[in-house]
Amino acid sequence: MTTLGIAKKNLQEKGFLDIEPPKSIDYVKEIKKLRKKKNAIILAHYYQEDAIQDIADFVGDSLALAQKAAETNADIIVFAGVHFMAETAKILNPTKKVVLPDLKAGCSLADSCPPADFAAFKKEHPNHLVVSYVNTSAEIKALTDIVCTSSNAEKIINSIPSEQPIIFAPDRNLGAWLIKKTGRDMVLWDGACMVHEAFSIEKILNLYAENPDAEIIAHPESEAHLLKVAKYVGSTSGLLNYVQESKASKFIVATEVGILHKMRQLVPNKILIPAPVDDDNCNCSECFYMKMNTMKKLYLCLKHELPEVNVDAELSRKALVSIERMLELSK
Ligand code: 13P
Ligand code: SF4
Repeated sequence: MTTLGIAKKNLQEKGFLDIEPPKSIDYVKEIKKLRKKKNAIILAHYYQEDAIQDIADFVGDSLALAQKAAETNADIIVFAGVHFMAETAKILNPTKKVVLPDLKAGCSLADSCPPADFAAFKKEHPNHLVVSYVNTSAEIKALTDIVCTSSNAEKIINSIPSEQPIIFAPDRNLGAWLIKKTGRDMVLWDGACMVHEAFSIEKILNLYAENPDAEIIAHPESEAHLLKVAKYVGSTSGLLNYVQESKASKFIVATEVGILHKMRQLVPNKILIPAPVDDDNCNCSECFYMKMNTMKKLYLCLKHELPEVNVDAELSRKALVSIERMLELSK
């Protein structure tokens, strides 16, 4: 069997094409060549490694990436992000090929909401409208009325009539923050992201005491005690806008460290300090899943158009309804 044949056979188990390209390969040059030849678009999230962000056609937060996926004319969407993002792109483009450099690039938050358990939870709360964060599987989106992201969650909750009870899933921290912001008493699913719950409030406050001129800024997936001391709370694109608009010149940034790449480009003269985590011996502020994608895997996936992300047609049709409602409400 050829190397490609063996790699294809092992794809499901490994999650990526395990082939060794020639040592002398220039990934940037080859990826650019293949992208043009195949009319492919590379969409990357802000948490991807620097080189991937630099070569992408578009880098964005989860809302902007879904919007871009919905409007692209490309034949192939190469999604440099995590599985739920590529799956959302496929649901929006059922006839297009969507590839993800590593199929095992999952999400701890999406994993914290198993569909069977969520279906039972939903039954316990009849008459509730379900708003789910985009960090969920297609199965959860099919059980959802309106999808949201951290960019548009507040707007979406506020668009729902006040007498309508709401279930918010799966992120308990974003949910609690939304309850505070909107004054709505929502039923929350008890899920969380392991990256955003790894920050140490004690170390952040010590750092702030040493840098009183800094502003603490945080993603709403972080815990309530951290959001309480943050000067600004917002999605990845919200955080990027904030550092440009704020008069401050120093920030303690509480979200996945990959965002610092784009932040440094946007505000090269400002000081950006990644928020410290509880465990000094781990890279916990790096999303292990996001970092599964590498330039080598990106090249191989574009070259061989594998691994492909596919969604069952019936499930896709059901999940599309809640995603389209979000896109409509985000215009
Ligand atoms: P954004 O919607 O801010 O891009 O966040 C996505 C995500 O996975 C955060 O952990
Ligand atoms: Fe999921 Fe958290 Fe990684 Fe975002 S940072 S993709 S929520 S595990």
